[in-house]
Amino acid sequence: MSKLNRVCAVAVAVWSLLATAIPSPGAEVNVGGVTGQAARGKQLYRRYCVGCHGAKGDGQGENGVYMEPRPRDFTTGTFKCRSTPTGTLPLDTDVFATIGRGLFASSMPSWKALTAQERADLLAFIKDFSPRWAVEKPQPALEIPPEPADSTESVKRGGKVYERMECWKCHGKDGSGNGPSSTTLTDNKDRPIVPYDFSKGTRFKCGRTNEDLYKIFMTGLDGTPMPSFKDNLPPDEAWDLVHYLRTLQAGVKK
Ligand code: HEC
Ligand code: HEC
Repeated sequence: MSKLNRVCAVAVAVWSLLATAIPSPGAEVNVGGVTGQAARGKQLYRRYCVGCHGAKGDGQGENGVYMEPRPRDFTTGTFKCRSTPTGTLPLDTDVFATIGRGLFASSMPSWKALTAQERADLLAFIKDFSPRWAVEKPQPALEIPPEPADSTESVKRGGKVYERMECWKCHGKDGSGNGPSSTTLTDNKDRPIVPYDFSKGTRFKCGRTNEDLYKIFMTGLDGTPMPSFKDNLPPDEAWDLVHYLRTLQAGVKK
């Protein structure tokens, strides 16, 4: 056996030891008042999710290739909708909420028709696709101070923040997603991606309330060019920005 082969053999042996020692990351989750179990989630996943997300959880299901954006690749442990800092794992509650809500402007449906128990089982199972859950802990959620009054002054200040933070470069001056950078953007899989169009509605992938909106630009959508602004925006300016963004949706049906 060459030295390299010996090293590899030892590495494999150590890995399999570790693999049996480490419990499966999603074996059990406690969320939404229920305990989700990966074993049960596996059956549900095969029934409802596999056609898009694929048997290996890599987003390569047989229908997935026809979708833009593509179904999430769960093996990377990267999620758009998080209350946690950019680059870190989401909380169980984040992903649980996303499964129930679905992702606006994508093929990901809402799974509200399933019970909370079933959604928790699914969450436990999809965590097993990425080793990140076994080695990393989700960071504490972003703190969101109470919303101050929405006023003409707040909207005006928010407009200046939109300008200064250069949201317009992607989202456009009028928020319709036609900024100068909008045609050049790609996601972490090198697929073209378009900025959100504020004239399309009042829903977002990651929620629909003012608090959801605050969280979206403060934590960013991981795996996309949509950055996190937490390090650049104090909370009062972030709330002004929320109030301004809502004016870009004026006249839109709620
Ligand atoms: C018809 C296709 C389709 C089916 C079926 C489907 N998904 Fe998805 N899913 C998607 C697409 C497409 C995305 C990516 C959307 C995006 O990036 O905007 C996605 C993304 C996700 C995400 C990532 C959320 C985030 O914050 O990034 C989760 C979690 C998820 N799906 C869970 C599920 C579960 C659980 C099931 C089965 C109950 C399921 N999906 C079934 C198409 C599907
Ligand atoms: C470099 C380009 C870029 C910049 C700069 C940018 N965004 Fe985005 N933004 C995007 C892209 C791309 C998406 C769509 C992501 C997706 O569909 O997954 C997006 C999505 C969004 C969404 C919708 C998220 C959802 O859950 O559906 C909001 C809200 C948003 N951006 C607000 C802002 C604000 C506010 C700023 C400035 C503080 C900003 N963006 C700056 C590229 C950008």
